[in-house]
Amino acid sequence: MTLTMPARRALLYMPGDDMRKIQKAANLDIDCICMDMEDGVALNRKPQARQTIAEALQKVDFGRSERLARINPVGSGLEMDDLSEVLPFRPDGIVIPKVDRAEQIHWVSQQISMAEQEFDWPPGQIHLLVVVESALGIVNLAQIAQADERLQAIIFGAEDFASDTGAIRTPVGWEVFYARSAVVTHCAAYGLQAIDMVYVDFQDEAGLRVEALQGAQMAFSGKQIIHPNQIAPVQEAFTPSDQAIAHARRVVEAFAEYQKAGVGAFALDGKMVDAPIVKAAEKVMALARAAEKVF
Ligand code: COA
Ligand code: MG
Repeated sequence: MTLTMPARRALLYMPGDDMRKIQKAANLDIDCICMDMEDGVALNRKPQARQTIAEALQKVDFGRSERLARINPVGSGLEMDDLSEVLPFRPDGIVIPKVDRAEQIHWVSQQISMAEQEFDWPPGQIHLLVVVESALGIVNLAQIAQADERLQAIIFGAEDFASDTGAIRTPVGWEVFYARSAVVTHCAAYGLQAIDMVYVDFQDEAGLRVEALQGAQMAFSGKQIIHPNQIAPVQEAFTPSDQAIAHARRVVEAFAEYQKAGVGAFALDGKMVDAPIVKAAEKVMALARAAEKVF
């Protein structure tokens, strides 16, 4: 993961036609806010969603939160109107759902480039995040991950993936495990962030904590969420704990000492430490710095 990208630990969706929820989200001190025009919005409310998002981008103070807008899928017939009504108000990024081919990303990126020229904005500052949520999307992850310079993150959509393959969703989630692993692996290979699936039962905090922690352990950099109750558990799961930071610091410091003494592998607290373990500890320290827990 490239740590120059903004942290995206919790990515909160809300229906784009709901100004009350957008305003509420803007006051929650969250990494990413994603105003939706796709499946969170009824077909007859799409025009309202475009207008409301355009208005929010002009009038709402989002504080430190990244302002994302999710368009309808490329090929749905709705995507052009979504972009043309929202892009002029300069969101920080566009989320493209149901991506299964690189061409879909190219098309959106071109539309953004045209807007950058038209409005005289510096090129390349509007990012892309794509949702991969079909069997074909998982099979084509390598081409998707390399599609475009604007692409910063791949988001995994479990509900759509299960409906595409015919899998039955379960609390344990083995039916989506391969797809989740494929997403994190491709993101690591191509320097992208990976954002994990939604936990739809927004009243079950304990279940959310288990799933969020599992995602963090799998190397996802964040998780999609749908309700304010989910912010704290998810932000915590994707931020290294004080204990993890203290341990990582000891590993890094001990490694430096042993290296000076000409020793590559050594024991710390009865466990072997060598280069990959040090590299993992350095990643923990980098995440802690990104979360401003360490300076
Ligand atoms: N973003 C911002 N605020 C939200 C929110 C969200 N996603 N979900 C709920 N809230 C707000 C509510 O407006 C309410 O605020 P209020 O008390 O000031 O009116 C408060 O949080 C409590 O909400 P609650 O009554 O528990 O939930 P709800 O019944 O209003 O909404 C959902 C439940 C699932 C409809 C709602 O959480 C939601 O719309 N989530 C996002 C759905 C979405 O975008 N799906 C597409 C992407 S997967
Ligand atoms: Mg979806």
